[in-house]
Amino acid sequence: GMPDAVRIYEVGPRDGLQAEKQLIATDVKLEFIRRLLAAGLRTIELTSFVSPKWVPQLADAADVVAGVDLDSARHPVLVANERGLDRALASGVREIAVFASATESFAKNNLNRSVDEALTMFELVVRRSRDAGVAVRGYISMCFGDPWEGPVSLAKVVHVAERLIDMGVTSLSLGDTIGVGTPGHVLALVERLEAAGIPRGVLAMHFHDTYGQALANVHAALTAGITEFDASAGGIGGCPYAQSATGNLATEDLVWMLTGLGYHTGVNLEHLVEASVWMAKHLRRPSSSRVVRAMAST
Ligand code: HMG
Ligand code: MG
Repeated sequence: GMPDAVRIYEVGPRDGLQAEKQLIATDVKLEFIRRLLAAGLRTIELTSFVSPKWVPQLADAADVVAGVDLDSARHPVLVANERGLDRALASGVREIAVFASATESFAKNNLNRSVDEALTMFELVVRRSRDAGVAVRGYISMCFGDPWEGPVSLAKVVHVAERLIDMGVTSLSLGDTIGVGTPGHVLALVERLEAAGIPRGVLAMHFHDTYGQALANVHAALTAGITEFDASAGGIGGCPYAQSATGNLATEDLVWMLTGLGYHTGVNLEHLVEASVWMAKHLRRPSSSRVVRAMAST
């Protein structure tokens, strides 16, 4: 049945901004994060300690983390390799996320590795993090479809999920990176993972709204007992290494539906919409979120 409480995992400052071509000033990122906190979000992914050659927009990761009160909320950051882990640990973060792929094409494009090479790269990162008392989320991208390979089998996702759980990640975020998933597929994936010994309680869902399915997929996942959902304020973002990975599920749209279902999200929707409208001005394009557009005073 439906869970009693759900957690919103805000990815706007990281996933939302990583693909922006125009460099955004660190102060603007910090103000965005402050506004998200003020709106009541309590898990906010801050940035990525990845290669600045690969993701120039997040080259200021250390400055962003230094500008945030790490006690104000949960503040995970993305890490791909040991170099990134060293930088992340030096910044003082207590939570990281590694990011695997269910498909070979995306592993190559996003990490310059095969699926298994990338998992091998993460092994030491996860072990050292856990030894340091740092929690590790494991993302899996392309869980439903892949822009180069088409539909992705449940077996591929289960394989990567098992590897990540075995190496010690504390939660798994299942990414529909290009937004092609539908509710029946979501339920089938959750059931297949459970059959493989991976309980629903460790799962989070990361939907993109490319095909307008994100909220339907969230609802399906809720009926399956999933309690953590990724979303991006204003619906900003996508992945620089996956064509057609536009449109993260907007946090406002998620909050609207959850509130209607009777969940207390702790988020002040008016303040969140204001934060997204403010950020949209810096990005020089309107928010794609239906709720932002409906609620923003014009
Ligand atoms: P590579 O080119 O194979 O690695 O990339 P490399 O070791 O040859 O490094 C390349 C250069 O970067 C070198 O510099 C390194 O020193 C440097 P050079 O020697 O040429 O001067 N470098 C670093 N610098 C700072 N910090 C580091 C670091 N690592 C290397 N940590 C690598 C391999 C993994 C580094 C690269 O592929 C990479 O950084 N990829 C990150 C891509 C990324 O961030 N993608 C977006 C996140 S995933 C996503 O958005 C999906 C998600 O939202 C869920 C979903 O929707 O599906 C999570
Ligand atoms: Mg994403």
